[in-house]
Amino acid sequence: MRTHYCGELREGDIGYEVTLAGWAHRWRDHGGVVFIDLRDRSGVVQLVFNPEIGAEMHKAAQKIRSEFVLQVKGEVAKRPPETENHSLPTGKIEVIVSELNVLNESKPLPFMIEDDTDASEHLRFRHRYLDLRRPAILKNLILRYKVTKTIRDFLDSKGFLDIETPVLTKSTPEGARDYLVPSRLNPGRFYALPQSPQIFKQILMVAGLEKYYQIVKCFRDEDLRADRQPEFTQLDLEMSFVKREDVMSLTEALLKKIMSDVTGVEFSEPFQRLSYKEALERYGSDKPDLRFGLELKDVSDIVINSSFKVFLTALSDGGIVKGINAKGLAGYSRKEMDDLTKDVQSFGAKGLAWIKVKNGFESPIAKFFSENILKSIAERLEAEEGDLLLFVADSAGVANAALAKLRDELAGRLSLMKPDTFKFLWVTDFPLYEWNPDEKRHEAMHHPFTSPMEQDKELFLKGGRDDISKVRAQAYDIVLNGYEVGGGSIRIHRKEVQDRMFELLNMGKEDAESKFGFLLEALEFGAPPHGGIALGLDRLVMILAGAGSIRDVIAFPKTQKAVCPLSEAPSSVDEKQLKELGIKLDIIE
Ligand code: AMO
Ligand code: AMP
Repeated sequence: MRTHYCGELREGDIGYEVTLAGWAHRWRDHGGVVFIDLRDRSGVVQLVFNPEIGAEMHKAAQKIRSEFVLQVKGEVAKRPPETENHSLPTGKIEVIVSELNVLNESKPLPFMIEDDTDASEHLRFRHRYLDLRRPAILKNLILRYKVTKTIRDFLDSKGFLDIETPVLTKSTPEGARDYLVPSRLNPGRFYALPQSPQIFKQILMVAGLEKYYQIVKCFRDEDLRADRQPEFTQLDLEMSFVKREDVMSLTEALLKKIMSDVTGVEFSEPFQRLSYKEALERYGSDKPDLRFGLELKDVSDIVINSSFKVFLTALSDGGIVKGINAKGLAGYSRKEMDDLTKDVQSFGAKGLAWIKVKNGFESPIAKFFSENILKSIAERLEAEEGDLLLFVADSAGVANAALAKLRDELAGRLSLMKPDTFKFLWVTDFPLYEWNPDEKRHEAMHHPFTSPMEQDKELFLKGGRDDISKVRAQAYDIVLNGYEVGGGSIRIHRKEVQDRMFELLNMGKEDAESKFGFLLEALEFGAPPHGGIALGLDRLVMILAGAGSIRDVIAFPKTQKAVCPLSEAPSSVDEKQLKELGIKLDIIE
C-alpha cells in the first residue's frame, strides 16, 4: 500500500512519485490549499492538496480531521525556502498529492496526539492505542526492543540458552505478596504467579543446563511507585561453575554492550564498586546516585565534645550525627530551611540542624559549639564560604535514610542530576540477614538461597545467634543513577549450608520442606556451584530513555492502583466461574 515511509523522505527524493499511508497528524486549511501532516511510525511529512491539481480531491481533503487514515499518491517537491521547517527531518520537502484515498475515519479525539500532553494518566491508559501514537512513547518502545535484541544477541554469543519456566507455579520468596490463581481441578488450592524464576533457574543448573537466561514477566503484589509495577520484566540469568566475579564481569560486559549499541555511550573503565557498608557510610543508601558527590560525613566524634543536647542524646542512645554540605546554599531563607526540614522529617528524622558558613559561622545552635569544634566540623565537610551545612542526629538507619533523601533533594535543587549521564555502580558484600523490626526477626536480605561469603563461612556455620548480623553474602546489586537495576548472588549448592540458612531464619525443617522442598531435594542430587543475576528491564530502559516512570516504557502499564484502564482489569467474574472454582466470595472490608 506504500512505496516509502513518511519520515524517511529527503531532498534526494525530490521529483519522485511516492505512495504513502498513515494518519492525519495535523491539518490546516488556508482557504486555497489544504496542508496535512501525514504520520506513520517513521515520522511525519507535509502533504499539499491543491484545488488546481484535483478539485474533487481537494474537497475531500477539506473534510479530513485528526487521525483519519489516509493513502496518498503524489510527487516529492522542494518547499519554498520561507516555508521550510528546520525542526522536522522532512522539513525541506513536501508531497504534492495527486490521489487521495481515505482508508478510515476517526471520532474526535479524547486528547491530542502530542508529546507534551496534559491528559490524565487514566484517560491516556484507557485509550492507550492513541497514547502510543505519541512519538515520545513510541520512541521508548523502540529503545526497549533494541535493548532486548542486544541482550539476546549478546547472550547467544556467550552460549546461553533461553528457557521458559512456569507461570502457574508455587510461591517463590522475593519478599513481596504473591498473586494467586485458584485451581479448578484442585478445589481450594492455588497457584502463585512467580515473583521471579529463582527456584526454577537453580533447578536448571542442577539439571546441567549451565547457562540459562530468560526475558521474563515477574509478578509482585506490592505498593506501586514510579519504578515499580505489579507485573514487570526481568532479564533473568544463571550460570554454573562460576564465582561472583564471573557473573559480575559477564553482566558488566552486557551492560556496556547495551550502552554502546543503544545509546552510543562507550565505557572503557570498569564500573565503580562499593561495599554495602561503604555505600551507607558515604551516601546513606545502598543505591546511591553517583552522578554527583555531596557525600555524607559522620561528625559524631567531633560533636561529642559540644554541649548541644540534641546531638549528645542521640549519641548516648547509640546513634550518630551525620552531615552534608549543601554547596553554596548559605543564602537559603527561613522558608527554604523549613522545607528541607520537612523533607527529612518525612523520613523519620526529628529535625535538621544547620550551620551557614557566612563571615564565620551562622547558626541557632552555634552557641553550643566552641570555635574549634565549628572549625573541625567545617574541615570535615570541606566547607567554604557560602556553604550550608546540614545535620541529622539519630540512629544510623534513620540518619542515613533521611540524609540520602536530602542528598537527592539537594542534587535536584543544584541541577546535579545530569540527563544523558550514566553512572553504574556495583554494591557488594551485603549482609546475609536483615532485621525486620515489625516482625522482630531476621530475614534473608536477598533471598534464602544466597551463599554466605567464604571468609564468613566459619561464623555462619558455627557462630552464635548474635553473630549472624555480621555474616556477609556473596550478593551484588547493580545500580544506575540511583536506581537498583539488578541484583544477584552466588547460591547455596550444598544441603547442609541450606539447612543452616533456614535454621538461622528460625524456619523449621517442615516449614522449609513445604515451601521449597522441590529445590532442597534437587540440591541433594549433585548440584553444581552456581550463581546468577536478574536485571529489571523496565527500570533499565526507563533510565536509558530518560523517562520519569517505568509506565512510559511499558506498552500496557497499570496505574498506581494496579488497574489496567484499557481492559478494566481487575474485574468481577461470573457466579458460574466462581462456582466452577469452588469459590464463594465473602469480601472482608
Ligand atoms: P530482585 O528481587 O532484586 O532479584 O529483582 C531483580 C530486579 O528486578 C527489578 N524489580 C522491579 N522492577 C519493576 N517493578 C517491580 N515491582 C520490581 N521488583 C524488582 C529491580 C531489581 O533489581 N531472583 C532474584 C535475582 C537473582 O538473585 O538472580 C530477584 O528477583 O531492578
Ligand atoms: P530544638 O532544640 O528542638 O529547638 O532544635 C534546635 C535545632 O535542632 C532545630 O533546627 C531542629 O530542627 C534541630 N534538630 C532537632 N532534632 C534534631 C535531630 N535529631 N537531628 C538534627 N537536628 C535536630
